[in-house]
Amino acid sequence: MDRTERKNVLITGVSSGLGLGLAKVFLQQNWTVYGLSRAEPKALIGKENFHFSSIDLAQTERIQEKLQGLVAGASNFHLDILNAGIIGRFGDMSAVPLKTMKAVMEVNLWANKVILDTLVTSEIQMRQVVAISSGASTSGSRGWNAYGISKAALNMLIKLYAKEQVNTHFCSLAPGLVDSNMQDYLCGLDMGENFQTLEILKSKRKTPEMPSPDAAAETLVKSFADIFTRVPSGDFADIRTLRPD
Ligand SMILES: NC(=O)c1ccc[n+]([C@@H]2O[C@H](COP(=O)([O-])OP(=O)(O)OC[C@H]3O[C@@H](n4cnc5c(N)ncnc54)[C@H](OP(=O)(O)O)[C@@H]3O)[C@@H](O)[C@H]2O)c1
Repeated sequence: MDRTERKNVLITGVSSGLGLGLAKVFLQQNWTVYGLSRAEPKALIGKENFHFSSIDLAQTERIQEKLQGLVAGASNFHLDILNAGIIGRFGDMSAVPLKTMKAVMEVNLWANKVILDTLVTSEIQMRQVVAISSGASTSGSRGWNAYGISKAALNMLIKLYAKEQVNTHFCSLAPGLVDSNMQDYLCGLDMGENFQTLEILKSKRKTPEMPSPDAAAETLVKSFADIFTRVPSGDFADIRTLRPD
């Protein structure tokens, strides 16, 4: 099949976890995958239909040029998945320095503005944008600090783009729990009984409520068409409450 006939998907954060799982699923389904992260996804490099660029989303001023290089030649994307994200440091607001919080906002929020602006101004057609959000974007549970703020702001960023880019369907999506590097960090913390979220996460590890990244990616990919037709553009959705009709 010619490269121009395949469906294109852009995925941020493809070196591990959910993003790597999503890239594998789309490659299996014969899509062309454009992926970015800092580290190379060694399992995917060299695969036909996989294009990769090492981009540090914390360096927002360098994203546009590097992204343009990655997507050169693609005139449309069936799907853009804004997946890359970081926790920063879990803990109380007053215990985390502003510098650490700003770094989280840069990657989880502002990098996505630069990515979307780059695609819009390059006149690359986008059919559907899914920004990977989190239950922490609405929970306000103790300890999520900048991560929770960044995901709440991401939900609003997506809502605002949806108003402007009316030919693209936008959604911010909480993917449910995923047994990734992020959970290695969170479940490895021992911060006492004040942070109930951590105890809940630990109790769900190695259970069906916290699937592997590959399994979570399979579920998510199945939901994207449903989101396109059932979730109003710009809305936040949670995979755990999205049920088939
Ligand atoms: N795991 C969960 O239970 C859970 C729950 C709710 C939401 N989420 C969300 O799901 C998404 C994926 O997370 P995950 O659980 O799969 O975590 P992960 O395994 O830590 O993956 C994070 C991905 O983001 C990339 N990334 C981080 N910083 C980056 C930077 N500065 N520049 C470019 N890429 C960067 C990482 O690549 P490099 O390090 O190579 O750059 C990696 O590929 C995140 O948005 C997270 O907030 C996860």
